[in-house]
Amino acid sequence: VSQQVGVIIGSTRPSRICPAITDWALAHLAASSDLSYQVIDLATVDLPFLDEPRKPALGHYAQEHTRRWSARVSAFDAFVFVFPQYNWGYPAVLKNALDFLYEEWHDKPGGLVTYGTRGGGKAAAQLRSVLQGLHMRPLDRNVELRITDDDVDERGQLLDLPATLAPFGPDVRALAADLAEALLDNQAV
Ligand SMILES: Cc1cc2nc3c(=O)[nH]c(=O)nc-3n(C[C@H](O)[C@H](O)[C@H](O)COP(=O)(O)O)c2cc1C
Repeated sequence: VSQQVGVIIGSTRPSRICPAITDWALAHLAASSDLSYQVIDLATVDLPFLDEPRKPALGHYAQEHTRRWSARVSAFDAFVFVFPQYNWGYPAVLKNALDFLYEEWHDKPGGLVTYGTRGGGKAAAQLRSVLQGLHMRPLDRNVELRITDDDVDERGQLLDLPATLAPFGPDVRALAADLAEALLDNQAV
């Protein structure tokens, strides 16, 4: 059985570009390894703001949506987070989804794919720190997609996604290779 990687769509705005970017990333991720990738859209996971009475580290979940989310996350061996930079940080919906659980994330490798006018490196740095707090294993290399104002129309939609993102294809393939290697390390433990 090949190992399962959850690819998390980390933005939920109605006019978000994250799903299209995730689709594009998926094609490159899947091309270069025999890991199995599955998209997790936080918009359909649809969690409320953290509403568990006990802290998630205890693993006693009162809410049905938490138990569902726990089962879903537990089924994956690693994750790739695809998310935009919002005001120098990462989207709140992503932090909320992470905070709901604890053990479920432990020891799992995490790849970061960010985007923003300068690539979203500040958001990546923040999420990296959070993943460390959750005892995940963020990969050393991030992918930072530069999407400038010239690449989008007045509604913020990408004018030519393949052309804008093409330069970053090799970076995503390298991330897939790093992920496969990190998962091999997992098996060795
Ligand atoms: C609340 C908010 C804050 C933003 N802050 C930044 C920022 O700090 N740096 C940046 O490069 N782009 C920033 N942007 C622009 C986003 O990169 C751009 O809107 C992108 O489309 C957001 O991803 P999404 O459409 O998938 O939600 C911001 C956008 C929003 C909605």
